[in-house]
Amino acid sequence: MEALENLGYPAVIKPLNGSWGRLIAKIDNAESARSILEHRSYLNEELGSVFYIQPYVEKPGRDIRVMVVGDEVIYAVYRYSSHWITNTARGAYTEPCPITSELEELSLRAAEAVGGGILALDIFETPEGLVVNEVNHTPEFHGAMKAVDVDIAQKIVDYFLRGG
Ligand SMILES: Nc1ncnc2c1ncn2[C@@H]1O[C@H](COP(=O)(O)OP(=O)(O)OP(=O)(O)O)[C@@H](O)[C@H]1O
Ligand SMILES: [Mg+2]
Repeated sequence: MEALENLGYPAVIKPLNGSWGRLIAKIDNAESARSILEHRSYLNEELGSVFYIQPYVEKPGRDIRVMVVGDEVIYAVYRYSSHWITNTARGAYTEPCPITSELEELSLRAAEAVGGGILALDIFETPEGLVVNEVNHTPEFHGAMKAVDVDIAQKIVDYFLRGG
């Protein structure tokens, strides 16, 4: 509660392990915080009381999903949703996103910061510029395949065959 008060509301709470936007919640005030924290810690006493918390970032109805393979940005897509959780597994739809030099440079730097490899990044457009929210080392790409004309699986296989 103290950490949330310091961060301010609205905030986002996330489980240590999760995917497809599951168990992510937006917390608007101290009363919601108290009730979510209490539920989580009683329902799962081992890991239920360990969370990530983040500031809630306003986005323009979409985020950007980028995949980096080695030293290349192989695609970027917008994920649009009427909900603030924009995972395609939750109904968001994808459209191609231009790979600008700003997006490319930020993505490659973020990937390098965690050791590189095959990584997917969730990036938000904010008034202060692009912000990396997540670097994912077990990405899925079914949503991107609908939007971009890139053989994503082949790019990943080629990377392995080159020796990673
Ligand atoms: N701090 C935040 N502010 C605004 N929106 C957020 C924030 N964190 C997450 N979101 C939204 O929720 C979506 C899911 O969050 P996140 O990527 O952290 O978890 P996940 O996708 O479940 O995890 P994984 O990608 O490992 O499966 C993001 O793509 C984004 O649309
Ligand atoms: Mg994600």
